[in-house]
Formats: sequence, C-alpha cells, structure tokens
Amino acid sequence: ADDAVIFSMIQPTGIIHLGNYLGAINTWKHLNDKKRAGQKIIYGIADLHALTIPKKNHVAELKQNRIDAIAALLSCGIDPEISTINFQSMVGGYHTELYWYLSCLAPMGYLNRMTQWKDKKNGDQSKERLGLFAYPVLQAADIMIYKGTHVPVGDDQSQHLELTRYLSERFNAFYDTTYFPSAKTLYGGATGSKKISSLSNPSKKMSKSSEDKSSLIYVTDTPEMIRSKIKKAKTDSISDIFYYDLTERPGVSNLLDIVSGLQKKSISEVERDVSQFHDYRSFKDYVSDVIIDALNPIRERYVKYTNDKQYLESVIERGYQSSREIAHQNLTEIKKIIGL
Ligand code: ADP
Ligand code: NA
Repeated sequence: ADDAVIFSMIQPTGIIHLGNYLGAINTWKHLNDKKRAGQKIIYGIADLHALTIPKKNHVAELKQNRIDAIAALLSCGIDPEISTINFQSMVGGYHTELYWYLSCLAPMGYLNRMTQWKDKKNGDQSKERLGLFAYPVLQAADIMIYKGTHVPVGDDQSQHLELTRYLSERFNAFYDTTYFPSAKTLYGGATGSKKISSLSNPSKKMSKSSEDKSSLIYVTDTPEMIRSKIKKAKTDSISDIFYYDLTERPGVSNLLDIVSGLQKKSISEVERDVSQFHDYRSFKDYVSDVIIDALNPIRERYVKYTNDKQYLESVIERGYQSSREIAHQNLTEIKKIIGL
C-alpha cells in the first residue's frame, strides 16, 4: 500500500480562476483520478486564511464564497467519494492548536523574509496585523496536522512549502522525534512550475485579490465574458507571428501558456498550431475558443451543483467527519510528544 497523504487548500476569496486551475486544481483532479489504495487525499477550503485580509461587512459574501468554492471544486472534477473536501474552519481547532505549537518554534526573521508578506503588507509595519504575518505558520500546521507528504500547489507557494519543511525538521529535532514527514511540493502538471499571469498586467500573477476583474478568467465565465477579456488582454506589437518569449512578449507567452495548459500540449506544439494566424484578432479568437471549450463543461456542472444545496451539505458533512478523525488522532499524538 501507498501511505502518501496528499493535501492542499484554496482560499474562498472568489471563484477559481485559470491560474488556480492550471497551477493547482488540474493536478488535484489528476491525483484524485489516479488515487492508489492506502493514499489519503484532502483538499481544503482555506476559510481561516481568507480572514488574513479582513473585509468589513463581508459576512454574507464569505458565507457564499465558501459554498461556491466547494461547488467549483466539484465542477473541476474533484470527486468527494475519492478525495476529502473540507472547510478549514470546521476542523480549525486542530489546525490552530498545532499552529500554536509551531509558532513557538518559528523564527520571526524567517517569516519576515516571506515574499507574500512583503507584497501584501502596507508600508507601516507597526500597523500590520499578526494574522497576516503568521499565516504561513498556520499553512504549515494545515499540512502537518494531516502529516501531509505531497502538496500540489502553484509556484507562488514554493517559499511557504519550504517553511513547512523547515518547521517539520525543527519540531522533529527539538522533540527528538521522526514524527513529521517532509512534505514534497508537487507543481502543476500541465504548466510545470509556471505561473499564469494577469491578463492586464503580465508582470503580475493572475490572482483573486486583483482589483481589475478583467485581468482574470474564472472557470465559470460565459463564452461572451471570455471573449471580451481575451480581447482586452495586454499583448504587444512586436510581430504578427505568435511565439513564446517570456521577457520580450510576456502577454503573448501567457496566452500560449494558457492554451498549452488547457490542451496539455507543449509550447512548441502550440506555437505550431498558432503559426496560421497573422493578426491579433484571429490569434485571440483562437485562444478564446480553446478556453471556452475547456471551461464550458465546468460552468455547466457549476450551475447544477450550486442549485443542489442538499448535495453540497452532504459533501461538507462527509469531509468534516473524515478529516476530523485524522486530525484528532494526530493532535493527540503530537501533544504526547510535546508532553501535554
Ligand atoms: P489566489 O492567489 O488567487 O488567492 P490561492 O491563494 O487560493 O489563490 O491559491 C490556490 C492555488 O492556486 C495555490 O496552489 C496557488 O499556488 C495556485 N495559484 C494561484 N494563483 C496562481 C497563478 N496565477 N498561477 C499558477 N498557480 C496559481
Ligand atoms: Na495565493
């Protein structure tokens, strides 16, 4: 038997976008589909992490976003009979208790070097909130509470995964144990470790937190929305041949990355496919067609799932029960190691 524990999470800050899909969820589905006997797979909705950038009068929206996130995962092909799908906050007591034990070992200097912290914090550090600073430690606890061995994430998470491995080693060394495994990072299959970029500003990653909503494509976007966003996507006027060059042509390269990821074709195959186009209009029409074809079935399932509240509730209850069981057993063992 294979005793791998595959674990990952997504924030319920909005619908899954193409970056999430190609960077992570695609791989989640792949792992789901070829799960072997003995393996555990747990995919969480990181609703505690969603609070690190608090929004006032946001209660109803958060509630809705959490449910939508479950429906979106199901629509992308995660099967709750195979993989456990949970809300982080429903097993939050276990996660946050381990977070506390780890935070007592985590050096602040290390956290201070996290690029996501540097990106998200505002100028005045004295006004920044502890949760935003410390959340990579909670993320480590999220993985470690299930003794996660494999974590499928996008490339933007590599630094946080390093911290997780560091904290596992530090805990093991400090308490003279071999309890925690070292979690391996699994990068998005189709796109390798590449990031999907914002459509309007290719130097940034496509992100749910972006203000400019035409910079990202949601997996539930209609064909009209997809066409209009791709039409506006920032490109260049370098030439009427469309080739991959991340430094000189980041916008075009991003579109080629998207096509390559969705069609599971290499970049050179995609370059060959688009060599028939000599103007942006036909090139972008083609890119739109590929995206529309890939996302249509997801959007159709999404509409179906969001209308079936009872089914969604049953998925949530089932995920809660099975993840609670693992987290409870592991935390009992962890406390024993610590002497509590
Ligand atoms: P976001 O950054 O949009 O809020 P999350 O933090 O919830 O998304 O990330 C969910 C998963 O999607 C993570 O594994 C993350 O690495 C991946 N991911 C997010 N944005 C991108 C992107 N632009 N390209 C590739 N992967 C991404
Ligand atoms: Na993120």
